[in-house]
Amino acid sequence: MKKIKLGTSNLEAPVIAVGCMRIHTLSSKELEDFIGFSIDNGANFFDHANVYQLGHCEELFGQAFAAAKIKRESVILQTKCGIVKGDGKTVSFDFSKDEIINSVDASLKRLKTDYVDTLLLHRPDILVEPEQVAEAFDKLHSSGKVRWFGVSNQKPMQIELLKKFVKQPIIINQLQLSITNCTMLSQDLHVNQAYTDRAIDRDGGIVEYCRIKDITIQTWSPFQMAQTGLFQGSFIDNDKFPELNKKLDEIAQKYSVSKNTIAIAWILRHPANMQAVTGTTKTERLKACFQASGIRLTHKEWYEIYIAAGNLFS
Ligand SMILES: NC(=O)c1ccc[n+]([C@@H]2O[C@H](COP(=O)([O-])OP(=O)(O)OC[C@H]3O[C@@H](n4cnc5c(N)ncnc54)[C@H](OP(=O)(O)O)[C@@H]3O)[C@@H](O)[C@H]2O)c1
Repeated sequence: MKKIKLGTSNLEAPVIAVGCMRIHTLSSKELEDFIGFSIDNGANFFDHANVYQLGHCEELFGQAFAAAKIKRESVILQTKCGIVKGDGKTVSFDFSKDEIINSVDASLKRLKTDYVDTLLLHRPDILVEPEQVAEAFDKLHSSGKVRWFGVSNQKPMQIELLKKFVKQPIIINQLQLSITNCTMLSQDLHVNQAYTDRAIDRDGGIVEYCRIKDITIQTWSPFQMAQTGLFQGSFIDNDKFPELNKKLDEIAQKYSVSKNTIAIAWILRHPANMQAVTGTTKTERLKACFQASGIRLTHKEWYEIYIAAGNLFS
């Protein structure tokens, strides 16, 4: 598995991170196998959040990890904080000092560990007071509970605002990206064009910003179609995307891999050196994702896939 340095840190991580948002669907034995299979394939980076199944995913992972007697230092654990749930629904976003610290303490307990390698602020808090984030990060860092910090779903000026107060480097920004949900890339092709909504800048130039500032972009939901909302199902083998699937099939055959592999290879081909976060719970599909690490699509193939997904001018 290829590795990249995360942001300006010295943390070496596999180009594919294993997302743990859906692991509650696995039995404890399946989850142990899932974790073991990932580590055996060099994918030792696991992405969590306090809110995945209200903490249940972290808890299940902590139990499986302990049962498998895996050395803590052999994996990189990431969690997130800042989304607040009540009755199973999101009720607010909260980057206050107490919320961040309490959330991390609860995650550490569930994950059965003393520290996480990386902590991300999950979704922007409109009411953010960056001084409070700075205090929380200082406390978590000096106590050894969090090694590195990052954000998720944030645009350049939001990160700049945090950086005015936060001393620790922001090394990660986790953002949604797939072939069918790539406005953060496609907007670059339509600068100033009045005749297409594709010219709309939705993120303040986040890709260029992260490249300039050496912030690693982690990409979530690599297979989800996003045209009608969140988590609406995969675009792979979906008859809403006939041309895309035809093209993915053609290129997958050329490399003797599956369409899932090519969809991840498409993300990894971007020169920003992104880290793709997978969401599958099946080891067979995980294997397909890992194979993407060894594939470098040509420039032409990348654009053929992009266009087959209807990203140009539609
Ligand atoms: N920062 C954020 O705001 C944020 C938001 C969402 C997610 N995340 C992170 O990103 C990770 C990935 O997100 P995600 O789970 O939405 O990613 P995803 O990999 O796009 O979606 C995974 C889902 O797609 C299904 N799938 C994959 N390939 C398929 C195929 N060929 N045919 C049919 N179904 C297929 C999987 O089913 P199987 O399990 O059966 O393979 C699974 O249900 C999460 O685990 C989480 O760690 C972060």
